Amino acid sequence: MSTFRHTQALADGPIGQPVDRIDGRLKVTGRATYAYEQDEMGPAAYGYILGATIATGRIDDIDTRQAERAPGVLYVMTYRNAPPQPAFGPPLTPTPAEVFTRARPVLATDRIRYYDEPVALVVALTFEAARSAASLIRVRYTAERGDHDLFSRLSEAYTPTRTNAGLQTDSAVGDFDTGFEAAPVKLDVTYYTPYQSHNPMEPHASIASWAGNDLTLYTSAQTLANFRGGLANTLGIPRERIRVVSPYVGGGFGAKLIIHPDAVLAAFAARVLQRPVKVALTRQQMYANAGHRAAMQHQVRLGADSTGKLLAIGYDVWSATSRFEEFCEQTAVFARSLYAAPSRLTRHRLVPVDLNRGEWMRSPGEAPGMLAFESAMDELAERLNQDPIDVRVLNEPEIDPERGVPFATRSLVACMRTGAERFGWNNRNPAPGRVREGRRLIGMGMAAAIRPNYLGASRAQVSMSPTGRVLVRLDMTDIGTGTYTILTQVAAQSLGVPMSSVQVQLGDSRFPQTAGSGGSWGAASAGSAVEDACQRLKQQLIQVAGVPYSDGQAQFAGGRIIASGRSERLTDLMMRAAPTGLQAEGSVGPMGDSYKNYSQHSNGAHFVEVSVDMDTGEIRMRRMLSVIAAGRILNPKTARSQILGGMTWGIGAALMEQTLLDTRHGHFINHDLAEYLIPVNGDIADMDVVFLEEADEKANVLGIKGLGELGVCGAGAAVANAVYNATGIRVREFPLSIDKLL
Ligand code: MOS
Repeated sequence: MSTFRHTQALADGPIGQPVDRIDGRLKVTGRATYAYEQDEMGPAAYGYILGATIATGRIDDIDTRQAERAPGVLYVMTYRNAPPQPAFGPPLTPTPAEVFTRARPVLATDRIRYYDEPVALVVALTFEAARSAASLIRVRYTAERGDHDLFSRLSEAYTPTRTNAGLQTDSAVGDFDTGFEAAPVKLDVTYYTPYQSHNPMEPHASIASWAGNDLTLYTSAQTLANFRGGLANTLGIPRERIRVVSPYVGGGFGAKLIIHPDAVLAAFAARVLQRPVKVALTRQQMYANAGHRAAMQHQVRLGADSTGKLLAIGYDVWSATSRFEEFCEQTAVFARSLYAAPSRLTRHRLVPVDLNRGEWMRSPGEAPGMLAFESAMDELAERLNQDPIDVRVLNEPEIDPERGVPFATRSLVACMRTGAERFGWNNRNPAPGRVREGRRLIGMGMAAAIRPNYLGASRAQVSMSPTGRVLVRLDMTDIGTGTYTILTQVAAQSLGVPMSSVQVQLGDSRFPQTAGSGGSWGAASAGSAVEDACQRLKQQLIQVAGVPYSDGQAQFAGGRIIASGRSERLTDLMMRAAPTGLQAEGSVGPMGDSYKNYSQHSNGAHFVEVSVDMDTGEIRMRRMLSVIAAGRILNPKTARSQILGGMTWGIGAALMEQTLLDTRHGHFINHDLAEYLIPVNGDIADMDVVFLEEADEKANVLGIKGLGELGVCGAGAAVANAVYNATGIRVREFPLSIDKLL
């Protein structure tokens, strides 16, 4: 394939090298300072949030007298004494821009909208004192009947104005009903995916500190600009008065894109007490207060001719949404670009429930959507008596089948072919339940992966000191993905200096604004902004260098500027011509014409081998391989780690992950890491990742495409399809727990 360029081609520069994490040593030695540990503003008082024990209703009375008299207590805040805040909503349906920065008042009214919604904040000298005093608060409620069950109320479903990513809720090409009806081979199946919770290792935590009218918030954030905007709107102060600091983040998974009660309450309490206050959500509180993925019903209808060519694709999704703020995952959207078919229909519907709002979670849309849809594709292949890869290749579209524009780059078929060869797909017995090793059944499954490629408006500043040290600054975050490392690689490569000369500083809203970490746009957006800033810095260097560098084609390599057979060390150049240093600012985005004129996605293919115990139904992973085409790979080590993480989420989604909702009380009951099951090392077995590199010039100057969330897309379906191949049992209700096999 001519579009593939091997990493070796760039081996003379840092880009493409498997560089170790620059922040790795700091993190494993405990010297990376996370939000709750910041102490540069002096010792902070501890806030503890008390949550409601009803899901819907009103507070009749709240008695805080005992708590206020408890040892060490400094302050108790309820809706009665909380500072004034703007009302929450309308709008019920904020635009994608509004949702990130709208006011999110806490303790603003006596109204309870969801179980465990904050009803009080206790601030004390120690965490233990605050938590103990919170238990002394007496709250009387008038509970009202809430609605918590999605599946018994599908008749109440309504059509949202758009999906949460701003995309159309419905799409139609041709006449689906006629096309489906006429198809000689029809599949009409309904899948279910459960509530899920993000569960980053680092809980949501904030320390607020005021100096006069200026607030500094040390917090755990994916996107600093959203936090600044959301706090400014909630607190009623200009965003210029707010500094947000978040240099290290212990995972985000979409749950740290917007502010949560820890940030708002820490800010209020610190202002009242005139001292720093820190507030963290407990692990249990995160389940109700920091987003979740909604439960969904997925109806997939596929009509094909006898050769396997798809004639009609229909995909309908019903999802739970909060009653007070709509959230519609873009679950069916990927199906608009995945396979060719003349008649097509995708629709999203929502059923309001009395829960907190859902939030973007680990590939929002594609993760639950491809779990269902790529399982259904496996069902279709079996019904056609065809190989699952052959069916997908047969339906590979030439151009984006709904938008009618070309793909910028698309290597889905190559991913499937490469994976099949590497994994030994030919050894698979297509007849289910036939391969045995002792009392264990063995099965193999695969699934395709697709994910949109985004770019977010971002700026970056790059400066060079008189001694040639390079400082890169932007308000980008590193949520564990490797941002510090890849941005160091980008700047070092662009300026032709060693990585040891480059320092990258992130996570401070005083630095130029970026799109942050989310939607897998981080590396492309922040990286392109850094590259642009480096280009501008090089222009300045050429200018100050003078003839011959300013005449010819100057190059930067080995710490030197080179042109017309002459070269000069950058350190000498700086001393000679820019003794006070140089500084440049660069920018990128937002998504321009190349995103309008091309369909931009990354692709992959997942392969899985499982064993299933014939007596107990126990499912064990044996092997998993993912082949990934996501543009240029900046760092194969950090990229591989991200994909391994995504694959692990896929295993979890297929086999174990679910937040159980008690629909009588609207309460997520398995709200801790003991009972919310996720795969651990012993569950994942042998995993491998292969990258098929592409140079995608349509995406951005660096040819990078979104990577992080691609790993989970379709990964769970490959697991479920392997379980089917092993057992002949098709479970359509995820997770695929043992009880469903027996
Ligand atoms: Mo991601 S769920 O867009 O942070």
